[in-house]
Amino acid sequence: MKRIAILTSGGDAPGMNAAVRAAVRCGIDRGMEVYGIQRGYEGLLDGEISKMEWHSVGDILQRGGTILRTARSSRFMEDEWVQHGAEILKTFGIEGLIVIGGDGSYRGGRELAKKGITVMGVPGTIDNDLAYTDFTIGFDTAVNTVLGLISNIRDTSSSHERTTIIEVMGRKCGDLALFAGLAGGADVILVPEVKTDINEVCRKVLQGQASGKVHSIIVMAEGADFSLTELQATLEEMTGRETRSVVPGYIQRGGSPTSQDRLLASQTAAKAVELLYNDSDSKAVGSICGEIVAMDLDKAIETKGEFRKDLYDLAEVLGKGVID
Ligand code: F6P
Repeated sequence: MKRIAILTSGGDAPGMNAAVRAAVRCGIDRGMEVYGIQRGYEGLLDGEISKMEWHSVGDILQRGGTILRTARSSRFMEDEWVQHGAEILKTFGIEGLIVIGGDGSYRGGRELAKKGITVMGVPGTIDNDLAYTDFTIGFDTAVNTVLGLISNIRDTSSSHERTTIIEVMGRKCGDLALFAGLAGGADVILVPEVKTDINEVCRKVLQGQASGKVHSIIVMAEGADFSLTELQATLEEMTGRETRSVVPGYIQRGGSPTSQDRLLASQTAAKAVELLYNDSDSKAVGSICGEIVAMDLDKAIETKGEFRKDLYDLAEVLGKGVID
């Protein structure tokens, strides 16, 4: 394969630029022509495609966001637009496409693959909700961002003897809440994967108070069972302690990528280029137990996630209030 293209799609994630850089440079290094598509599938449909050079991706490794820009394309949900996208790529002589994004972006890629384009999925999302890979690009940075917020909130929660709920992103996946909550010493972690009774949350907070905790930190995934206002009001009423809530929102999606995200991005994008160079079928590239792996794109999309119950259970033990 001689001519390939790259796009970033869906919610941006720190490390996407590192993946773009690696894809461009590894492609050129193998003698391929590499094209960048602006604004994901939207840009593809509008023909926003230009050739990239070695220096097009200089000084971006450390930057959050994506220089290719990104979009969520509703047009690309329709078959006739997918067909149009495939035709545009063929007009440019592009045979292979690297899609850096999450679940929705992969689904778009799968449709494109049915129209004769070889698609390589590179996992880019802070949600870590692509089950075929242990980690997605941007997740580690987002965990560290939330960790910083937990530390700050811990200070002020202690001073005021409050309970604070931090609602983090993740869609239907609780990984961001789980990893940041465990690493940040949360008293309670709420995730969509584990059904929790609101009274049980109150009981845990009360037990913490009884054991002498001057504050309580609850990290809740946006996809968890209750709404923030419902939980906040119930906690305040049942525990008698002032309760505040924080929604960091898009702060979680920005920032300079961590070393882990830069390494994952560089390695997965390099693997995607290698597969295209070797005329592979469409695949999704990921990381399992530290190894860079490639799986059939369709199989990767259909893989069901296994929740890290071991980490959840550990967080429960470490966060509980015990009277010495
Ligand atoms: O990137 C994933 C994600 O951050 C989700 O966790 C969140 O629900 C969603 O994107 C919101 O993004 P937007 O408002 O850009 O659609």
